Amino acid sequence: MCVVGARPNYMKMAPLVRAFSTRTELPRAVLVHTGQHYDVSMNERLFADLELPAPDVNLEVGSGTHAVQTAEVMRRFEPVLDDLRPCCVVVVGDVNSTLACSLVAVKKGIPVVHVEAGLRSFDREMPEEINRVLTDQIAERLYTTERAATANLLREGIPDSRIRFVGNVMIDSVLRNRQRAIAPTQTLARAGLLSRESIDGAAGYGVITLHRPSNVDDADALRESLEVLREVALRLPLIWPVHPRARVNIERFGMSQALAGSPVTLIPPQGYLEMLGLMASARLVLTDSGGIQEETTALAVPCLTMRENTERPITVDQGTNTLVGRDRGRTLACVDAIIAGDGKRGCAPELWDGHAAARIAADLVAWRGYAGVQREVINA
Ligand code: UD1
Repeated sequence: MCVVGARPNYMKMAPLVRAFSTRTELPRAVLVHTGQHYDVSMNERLFADLELPAPDVNLEVGSGTHAVQTAEVMRRFEPVLDDLRPCCVVVVGDVNSTLACSLVAVKKGIPVVHVEAGLRSFDREMPEEINRVLTDQIAERLYTTERAATANLLREGIPDSRIRFVGNVMIDSVLRNRQRAIAPTQTLARAGLLSRESIDGAAGYGVITLHRPSNVDDADALRESLEVLREVALRLPLIWPVHPRARVNIERFGMSQALAGSPVTLIPPQGYLEMLGLMASARLVLTDSGGIQEETTALAVPCLTMRENTERPITVDQGTNTLVGRDRGRTLACVDAIIAGDGKRGCAPELWDGHAAARIAADLVAWRGYAGVQREVINA
């Protein structure tokens, strides 16, 4: 049983579902969507772009406080497990749905497989960090994207025999879809905006994504972030697909005018192929997302991460990522360097080669002892 809940899960699960379906030794994968994200722009388009099959089950939990959302996923997931009795539950990433479904499964004696295990920001104020640490403690099979993640797991007492370094399924999706990405001018036209001349011109453009509670839930932090973005935009026009959490808070704090008149173009959340196209052609990306730090490294586009830490250190050590927080001076110095052609170029990290999901599928076959057993027999 494969579980997704929120947007960053889909690009990780799509290559897994595909890889599982090609291994006839494995039982059929059932896809469960918890419904943590539900807006069309956060869902259907991404499923279509990623060629993810429609979920077999949708728990439709929706939004809520962390306690309510986590509890609701657990309450609704339990009868599904009782009904379908999967041989294992595969979870990805670090969202609330990841932890909630892992907890339910492990207490029923159903093994949990965690893909993208071991990442640590060492910042327990991030809800995702709590989800990561706890999911890893109860998972039986843990797949890591970088060697530092394996080291984190070993330090936390997880036996070596449970861990496999397989590469990055999110990068499987980037490499598979790179050629299908939609041109940025088309994306702006679709959003009802004329394509800006500057986007085609020599100056190029930057892309923003911002949604972390630490940047957008607090009025002062959000104001500071918007001020930095306004200054960056004076050097390079910016395109911002706005996440619902950021949109709600910009309105709630009365900051809708904060970027008025500056060359920042706000558009709704985009599909996967639009976003890939926007990022691939950008001069730089400003973000507080986890996944985008990795995608920009794979695309060799400089990334400035508006956080003080990252759970993905390889993107800084080997990739194109630089941590700038909300520091105006640090950010502008990096932007100037990038515009001058002096940005980080980076290189592709080990095993970020488009085959991570295939490695996981092969390992699951061996781990569950399915080799040589026909799918029909298992399903019977
Ligand atoms: C969640 C994940 C985060 C991930 C992000 C990507 C957790 C703890 N956080 O954060 O790790 O990076 O998804 O998008 O799981 N909303 C809508 N429509 C939707 C979904 C949400 O309008 O389809 C609004 C609601 O007002 C909601 C808010 O966005 O309260 C936040 O949604 P939530 O799922 O709680 O967390 P995210 O900030 O999206």
